[in-house]
Amino acid sequence: MNFELSEEQLAVRDAARDFAQRELKPGVIERDKNMTFPSDQIKQMGELGFLGMMVDPKYGGGGMDTMSYVLAMEEISKIDNSCSVIMSVNNSLVCWGLEKFGTEDQKQKYLTKLCTGEWIGAFCLSEPEAGSDATSQRTTAVDMGDHYLLNGTKNWITNGGSSSVHLVVAQTNPELKHKGINVFIVETSWDGVDIGAKEDKLGIRSSDTHTIMYNNVKVPKENRIGEDGFGFKFAMKVLSGGRIGIAAQALGIAGGAYELSIAYSHERETFGKPINKHQAIAFKLADMATDIEAAKMLVYRSAWMKDQGMNFDSASSMAKLFASDIAMRHSVEAVQIHGGYGFVKEYHVERLMRDAKITQIYEGTSEIQKMVISRNVIKGAPYIETQPSNLQEA
Ligand code: CAA
Repeated sequence: MNFELSEEQLAVRDAARDFAQRELKPGVIERDKNMTFPSDQIKQMGELGFLGMMVDPKYGGGGMDTMSYVLAMEEISKIDNSCSVIMSVNNSLVCWGLEKFGTEDQKQKYLTKLCTGEWIGAFCLSEPEAGSDATSQRTTAVDMGDHYLLNGTKNWITNGGSSSVHLVVAQTNPELKHKGINVFIVETSWDGVDIGAKEDKLGIRSSDTHTIMYNNVKVPKENRIGEDGFGFKFAMKVLSGGRIGIAAQALGIAGGAYELSIAYSHERETFGKPINKHQAIAFKLADMATDIEAAKMLVYRSAWMKDQGMNFDSASSMAKLFASDIAMRHSVEAVQIHGGYGFVKEYHVERLMRDAKITQIYEGTSEIQKMVISRNVIKGAPYIETQPSNLQEA
């Protein structure tokens, strides 16, 4: 495992940092307050190549590794987590899954538009009664010969209102339970796709999260991803990769809270000296710095393992579990360090604190991550040693 970053990776990190500071920071408080979707910013991110970072250039992507993607996610998440979740879903849940498991025609048709931001993608798994318990899908896709007929309701869909393409998880044969699940590429312009109300959320408020209804949507046969019955494994593999993106987002939130706290601790004086000269504050900064370094190891390691073609299921769950916990803990500490200023919007840390909470929930709650990790460790699966990728067998 080698975490020495290459010149290319450092350049991506610096470009993302620069973009976030210059283009995202100025309007981030207003967008969050008014729940304004960051259309202009997402357009810019598409032009700069942040929306299809890992996709092969022949489909319009950046051809970069997961480590570069993680570094960009981390920097953008220090500033704007609505933009970074839109970026994460598009890159890791939609583009990566399509490129890895889609047909050549599917890739040609959808990836090019998704990489440039002309189209945004959404991953539609969660339902009113199937969030953590992902096999209990009630959405159905009935085989009608030349097409499937899709019916059902999806909840909590990131990019729900802004997306042109959905990857929809549906049950095609209930008797087979999870082996009857398939995933379909659905265009939102098709008849029967209805976008429900936008959620008014605690955090990531300028990203759009919706309920989606599918009413007798005709899905062409060629829009199923993979062999019949491959859908649940597809969802699991894609979520394993997605969790690396969310772990990077959480790392960015913790890093953003830390950087703001360090700067504030130099400026703010109490009892005749900067607050970082008081042990009560200095020790908080020490805890933050230590946890962030530890999280970095887990997050970068999971990206590195994915780039090596190793099994990264446990690694990505560990990274997300740990990074989301420290994002929550240290964004709360950042508010505490800022005192009354931390409680108002102008100082950014209260937004990071609100954004942190969702990283413990979406793409698998912390409890689900513990299920994944514990099942793997109990069956004796190594999590560090090189082992063959399970992508092929998935
Ligand atoms: N790779 C390949 N196959 C996998 C796999 C993986 N990582 N994980 C499980 N599978 C396979 C199993 O091998 C099994 O296959 P076989 O029957 O052929 O052996 C099958 O899938 C079923 O597995 P389990 O018996 O382990 O299934 P389970 O019902 O116990 O659930 C779970 C497992 C890990 C808890 C899963 O349900 C899960 O991940 N739940 C959380 C779902 C989630 O993350 N939801 C978030 C919504 S998406 C989102 O938030 C996006 C957004 O908009 C931001």
